[in-house]
Amino acid sequence: MSMSIEISFSKTAKTTGGLVVALGTLTEPVSAAARSVDPAGQLDKAVKVSGFTGKLFSTTDIIAPVDAPADRIALVGAGDPVKLTAHEWMRVGGKMFTLIRKAGKVTVLLGDTGTPEAAADMALGLLMRAYSFDLYKTKKSDDDENGSRKISVVFQHEDAASCKKAFASRQAVADGVKLARDLVNEPANVLGPVEFAARAKDLEALGMEVEILTEKEMKKLKMEALLGVSLGSVRPPRMAIMKWQGGKPKDKPLAFVGKGVVFDTGGISIKPAAGMEDMKGDMGGAAAVTGLMHTLAARKAKVNAIGIIGLVENMPDGAAQRPGDIVRSMSGQTIEIINTDAEGRLVLCDALTYCQDRFKPEIMINLATLTGAVMVALGQHHAGLFSNDDKLSEALSKAGEVTQERVWRMPLDPAYDKMIDSKFADMKNTGGRYAGSITAAQFLKRFVGETPWAHLDIAGTAMGSPSTDINQSWASGFGVRLLDELVRANYEG
Ligand code: BES
Ligand code: MN
Ligand code: ZN
Repeated sequence: MSMSIEISFSKTAKTTGGLVVALGTLTEPVSAAARSVDPAGQLDKAVKVSGFTGKLFSTTDIIAPVDAPADRIALVGAGDPVKLTAHEWMRVGGKMFTLIRKAGKVTVLLGDTGTPEAAADMALGLLMRAYSFDLYKTKKSDDDENGSRKISVVFQHEDAASCKKAFASRQAVADGVKLARDLVNEPANVLGPVEFAARAKDLEALGMEVEILTEKEMKKLKMEALLGVSLGSVRPPRMAIMKWQGGKPKDKPLAFVGKGVVFDTGGISIKPAAGMEDMKGDMGGAAAVTGLMHTLAARKAKVNAIGIIGLVENMPDGAAQRPGDIVRSMSGQTIEIINTDAEGRLVLCDALTYCQDRFKPEIMINLATLTGAVMVALGQHHAGLFSNDDKLSEALSKAGEVTQERVWRMPLDPAYDKMIDSKFADMKNTGGRYAGSITAAQFLKRFVGETPWAHLDIAGTAMGSPSTDINQSWASGFGVRLLDELVRANYEG
């Protein structure tokens, strides 16, 4: 059952009833703030017994003594707090959630530890950790006896007004990440191309303009590469174009393009059965773009941004595309289909062409769960980064370090490009056994002109995610925080 968390900030805080959380540091494991709710000194005893030293990310908690105002008191280790990064504060917030999940009313006493930004980061981490996708669970889980419920968390801080201000943009980030995770976690029977497009359309409520291209319109635009992937599906394809105008009217937009294969069976080159259910997440790129656009609009980012997502389902069928088929992309370049399971690049190439032709963007970044090979190369801790622009590449790497949604640059080179030359068409859609992620990137590059461009292969980072202090969900929402940070740090004046 689901849980909703309401965050607020206050200069003063009532500590009667519920749970009180305080930070502990290496120099002061039991802070003055903690002592203020524990006149009898029970915490000192607890700390001694449990060995809590204030070490970063450690926790301890007690049932409050009878004469204390609170029901429970918990301590979360902040180590040496002046040294913590934004992401570490988020992790502290995530740890905090593990203590409060059974509570109803929570007061976090920060005293004078941590800046307003740190408090806001803790709240963001707490929200991200609290996310769970349980839409289809009809039974209550063990640690949520009350079913669907609300937890209110009040952060007490000297400068509550600044905390509140800092948190506003974090709330937008939390909501964008939640949207991306929800979209990836949703099964494909619920979220087809039409349904996904409708979810994108919903963003108009945030002051964005969203256009949806139908199959007919895409045919007119000659997007034969994208449409070829969709041939085997009874569900029609869509393309959603999200426009956020937060900058000066004539500023060129930043463009984000996402692969949205709502389910990837492989098509006629069908995938093995084992693990195929994971291919409901093959729209992780489109989900990240949609989540990012949500965040940018919700925090009223001072940029012009375009989000374009190609939405199709890759199915085997009598009408499906075959190996050996040759399609003409919107760019005019022809593609020989070698393997119908290399469909993501076919969807992206037309979306990239459309994006550049129509919007002439300042930069263009595409995200895609593109290759299994990127997981072989980098595992689940870095996304593959390919770019024609060193500056953009460095900015992305830096945003990756800040958000800990990390990227690792991989090569582009004419020698790899040769591997996708075709006997029958301008190129083929696979490059053979070696360097699978690179040849996929080389394919995309053939559809990119002079625009500074980056391709993020997020097959290893968007889904099947390892549990962390700020994510326990199968879908991580990878890309939303990374690109929000990129925009914030480089393009907002
Ligand atoms: N959607 C897959 C890539 C993928 C695999 C994403 C595992 C997430 C987890 C993509 O469409 C695909 O099937 N790629 C093929 C390409 C090959 C046929 C050249 C692959 O990686 O095997
Ligand atoms: Mn595939
Ligand atoms: Zn795919």
